[in-house]
Amino acid sequence: MSELSQSDPEIFAVIGREHSRQNDGVELIASENFVSLAVMEAQGSVLTNKYAEGLPGKRYYGGCQFVDQAEDLARRRAMELYNCEWVNVQPHSGASANGAVYLAVLKPGDTLLGLDLSHGGHLTHGSPVNFSGILYDAQFYGVEQSGPLAGRIDMDKLAEKARAIRPKMISIGASAYVRDFDYVRFRQIADEVGALLWMDMAHTAGLIAAGELSDPLPHCHIVTTTTHKTLRGPRGGMILIGKDFDNPFGKVAAKSGRVKKMSELLDSAVFPGMQGGPLMHVIAAKAVAFGEALKPEFKSYAQQVRKNAKAMAEAFISKDYQLVSMGTDNHLVLIDLRNKGISGKKAERVLGEAEITTNKNMVPFDDRSPMVTSGIRLGTPAMTTRGLKEEDFVYLVDLIDRVISNADDEIVITEVRTAVKALCERFPLYGSFDQDS
Ligand SMILES: Cc1ncc(COP(=O)(O)O)c(C=O)c1O
Repeated sequence: MSELSQSDPEIFAVIGREHSRQNDGVELIASENFVSLAVMEAQGSVLTNKYAEGLPGKRYYGGCQFVDQAEDLARRRAMELYNCEWVNVQPHSGASANGAVYLAVLKPGDTLLGLDLSHGGHLTHGSPVNFSGILYDAQFYGVEQSGPLAGRIDMDKLAEKARAIRPKMISIGASAYVRDFDYVRFRQIADEVGALLWMDMAHTAGLIAAGELSDPLPHCHIVTTTTHKTLRGPRGGMILIGKDFDNPFGKVAAKSGRVKKMSELLDSAVFPGMQGGPLMHVIAAKAVAFGEALKPEFKSYAQQVRKNAKAMAEAFISKDYQLVSMGTDNHLVLIDLRNKGISGKKAERVLGEAEITTNKNMVPFDDRSPMVTSGIRLGTPAMTTRGLKEEDFVYLVDLIDRVISNADDEIVITEVRTAVKALCERFPLYGSFDQDS
């Protein structure tokens, strides 16, 4: 950093402030995590200088012999992690990975069936403000409002809807869904209506890699992910196929007339379809993160992420908070704050004043707008990386409850901020990392 402090003190200062914010506060945004210093080192390396359009061994530029090795390592490790036949590690982000799937599978106007954004789905699963809802005929399934399946997907209703609309692709995956998915049933439904099945495991990729949630790879035709959430790698995306197959659209290789594999269509959709040069420094950092995820310590980490989420859910329930689906299977809890008389927007703001970072979130059947919302979403991946255990999350729930129950009381918020600072000092982020070095 000394180079940067000399050449650009303004940006150096910004990075220092952000480092302090991360170190001194409690990070409960479910989609965030803290990468290792090794991941950051790879990402901040000379690999950022290299153009490498194409795939290892088949590049459009010279001098790719070493970045090829980095990408091969990333691919090999990802395939080992998910026990799959094919992967493309080049997508710049989760949204880019998803864009490549659309480009490879659908034509504009084709029908997609995905989880409604307001029920936990993601923008790229057909929201009208996203390319996926603008270019394609996006139809949705949701979760139940009440009854034994409250907050969960009713698979019989989903099957009925799929039979009625006969989508070309069905998507699974979410940004705010607390339960595991029944991939076997999803696949039966997809097969019955002749749809391709796509799972976006962006949020849960780390838990799936560690065997903490059921594995979509054997059941879904295509799987996409981000690499920076529970998987704890650099910001980025990736596409995987468990067992490669002939593409069902009759696309053939120009010279030989051979039917192309689905993986080939996806490779072409990433480049040249969607992206230019891959970010080789990020791909190297992905390789480092996948190597970390293959170690036994990562399994313990993923187990702790879930234990912490369960402890947090139980502590909230004991304080009369309404959790969507009344608990969690994964790394996040979604709280419907309507019985507490505070909006998601205000809860996010006052918790932020106490240095507890969360995000407002729509809850299923919300009557407030996405900018206000009735809920907040909390996740355990980042603070579990810092070493917090169940009892620490129960303590955090006490602090969050104090803020939410006294949202207009500056004194309480100041007291909680002091408690947060003391907690964070016990679990330093990048213990030995010195921003001035
Ligand atoms: C389910 C899901 N898919 C895709 C994405 C998009 O990832 P990115 O922000 O890397 O584009 C997210 C991000 O929140 C997500 O939750």
